[in-house]
Amino acid sequence: MADSRAIGIFDSGVGGLTVAKAIHNLMPDENLIYFGDTAHLPYGDKSDEAIVHFSKGIASYLQEKHQIKALLIACNSASAVAYNPLKSYLPESFPVYNVIDPVAAEIALTKPNSVVGVIGTRATINSGSYTQKIRTLEPSIDVSTLRTPLLVPLIEEGLAESKIAHETLSYYLEQPELGDIDSLVLGCTHYPHIQKKVEELSDGRFEVINSPEIVAARVLKDLAARDLKNDSSHQGKLEFYVSDYTAVFENIAQIMFGSNITLVEENIWE
Ligand code: DGL
Repeated sequence: MADSRAIGIFDSGVGGLTVAKAIHNLMPDENLIYFGDTAHLPYGDKSDEAIVHFSKGIASYLQEKHQIKALLIACNSASAVAYNPLKSYLPESFPVYNVIDPVAAEIALTKPNSVVGVIGTRATINSGSYTQKIRTLEPSIDVSTLRTPLLVPLIEEGLAESKIAHETLSYYLEQPELGDIDSLVLGCTHYPHIQKKVEELSDGRFEVINSPEIVAARVLKDLAARDLKNDSSHQGKLEFYVSDYTAVFENIAQIMFGSNITLVEENIWE
């Protein structure tokens, strides 16, 4: 049976678009509703309480206004601190996905006896989520984490390709925490926007994990198991909303999804 209701996807800003893109590539017939909470950007520097509050508000909006069939938290910061609160807030049978568990599971399976680096926002790294989840599944893995809070503002400013992004990233990648790593998790959904730069700067020293693809594969598997997929022959409809309109957001979304998409401001916080 085909379920044509949309998958709801949210992040603080353009980061979750990298996950939405992977979902769209893997499941082109699914309808997607994306919400970027640009009014509250960045999430990574907010308190856990604030991130939980925003996440619940967005989940209610997506459920009530758009009748979504599943919710994907396309933000590591919210995945780290708001996934469990959201699971208890939403009906028990409602599918909620985070971006950390699938990546932790994949790493545990494929990288035993290695050193894995994780870069992310303050909220994500302070939560200890990656270390705890990876090491619970595979104790032979050493996890070394680093807070890299300057990257999100650069990406949201549309400066991903700039010299200043290059300098900032080189500074972070030279930190001792990342000295001995075999692979690196971009533990913030904004960072795939600068993945090429990370790979260039790594110079083959470590492998960069493709988190959006891993997450998309997990969502596909679970939707199929729950008989919630939209097996139609039509291209899915893509809708993009933000709590505070910015031209940079619209521009990045159009570069990624095509110039025919439009961005709608929906201030759900009023
Ligand atoms: N893209 C989000 C994450 O994965 C949020 C970044 C931010 O708003 O600080 O953590």
